[in-house]
Amino acid sequence: MLKGKTVVIGVCGGIAAYKVCEIISKLKKLGANVRVCMTDAAQKFVTPLTFQSLSQNAVATGMFDPVKSWDIEHISLAKAADVMLIVPATANIIGKISAGIADNIVTTTVMATKAKVIIAPAMNTQMYENPITTENIERLKKLGYVFVDPEGGRLACGDVGKGKLADVDDIIEEVITHLLYEKDLAGKNVLITAGPTMERIDDIRYITNHSSGKMGYALARVAARRGANVTLISGKVCITPPKKVNTIYIQSAKQMHGEVMKYSKDMDIVIKAAAVGDFYVKNQADGKIKKDKINTIELEKNPDILQTLGQNKNFVLVGFSMETEKLSLYSVEKLKKKNADFIVANDLTHEGAGFGTDTNIVRIFHQNGETEDLPLMSKEKLAGEILDRAARLLK
Ligand SMILES: Cc1cc2nc3c(=O)[nH]c(=O)nc-3n(C[C@H](O)[C@H](O)[C@H](O)COP(=O)(O)O)c2cc1C
Repeated sequence: MLKGKTVVIGVCGGIAAYKVCEIISKLKKLGANVRVCMTDAAQKFVTPLTFQSLSQNAVATGMFDPVKSWDIEHISLAKAADVMLIVPATANIIGKISAGIADNIVTTTVMATKAKVIIAPAMNTQMYENPITTENIERLKKLGYVFVDPEGGRLACGDVGKGKLADVDDIIEEVITHLLYEKDLAGKNVLITAGPTMERIDDIRYITNHSSGKMGYALARVAARRGANVTLISGKVCITPPKKVNTIYIQSAKQMHGEVMKYSKDMDIVIKAAAVGDFYVKNQADGKIKKDKINTIELEKNPDILQTLGQNKNFVLVGFSMETEKLSLYSVEKLKKKNADFIVANDLTHEGAGFGTDTNIVRIFHQNGETEDLPLMSKEKLAGEILDRAARLLK
């Protein structure tokens, strides 16, 4: 995913320096080239040898170290960076960067780079809430530096409060976002539904379907990376909710209908990727239906969320269809009946398409009668393709 991208990490003197090991390891697994520079204080916490081994690159520890090539180290690091990450960022380094001080390999590289600089602070709560630190952070944010805010919790010093280094995955997510995505959906409101619905039979049993939620979650993740304000209305799935997404969990189709109607008013794009059950159980029972009391399950039609949305829409509306036969016929019917802008159709008979897989192979049916066959690709890549098409329809 990050092949060909160089992440330069500036490590500072805080307890959380050990977490940089995991960050380097995860970035390497994503294919990034990782180069590390360290302040003197950072080297009291973790040795350069550890970062050298994990990054498979020499670690820069001082501006005046004997040179290994003719390059001036901080300039070559600054030029090599596609993104620079300062982690853990101490109160000291934030103050220095804010004041334009360049007195060590990390601060000098920051001053010399044209790359986006992402800063992940970690420090004692009093240090973090000190008005000097707050003012420094505000100043840097205004100058375009990106912060991954620390979390609240029990700190290494024993205090409880804000100042704990952000989750490693949140830091990596910020790096991925800045390396791979344009913010072309900034300021846009995007609503996505995902996963299966569950229709209650009694207190123990329910009717559901095989939807894993992977397609809808990929759409939500990519839309958020592209800067959209994303609301995800999700059935029960085994996926961690995407970062920076407002995720609302529902069970039944009626609950999903209610939440979608509540949020859709302010949306620019609505994408219905959930597998909504067509029927609910009319004769639901309290408690558990005993084995010998089993009765016929009576089914009633659920509200048609896509159709309701299509009746009065002032947003781009995208639907999904999933068929085992007559894909074109049923999908075109759905497109017209539901007044969607386009329908993304999965043919379940194709290998690599549909439920549970990490890939999809789809045909897109547009309102003007055009169809597009997209080749087999990851759900994340397909999410980008769908969002591209929806974005083109925005007024
Ligand atoms: C055990 C210990 C832990 C520390 N943890 C932090 C920390 O988490 N955050 C911070 O801002 N400073 C922390 N400090 C203070 C910094 O190490 C100190 O301000 C140092 O000058 C930072 O240098 P640097 O910014 O050049 O890395 C800690 C100091 C010690 C002795």
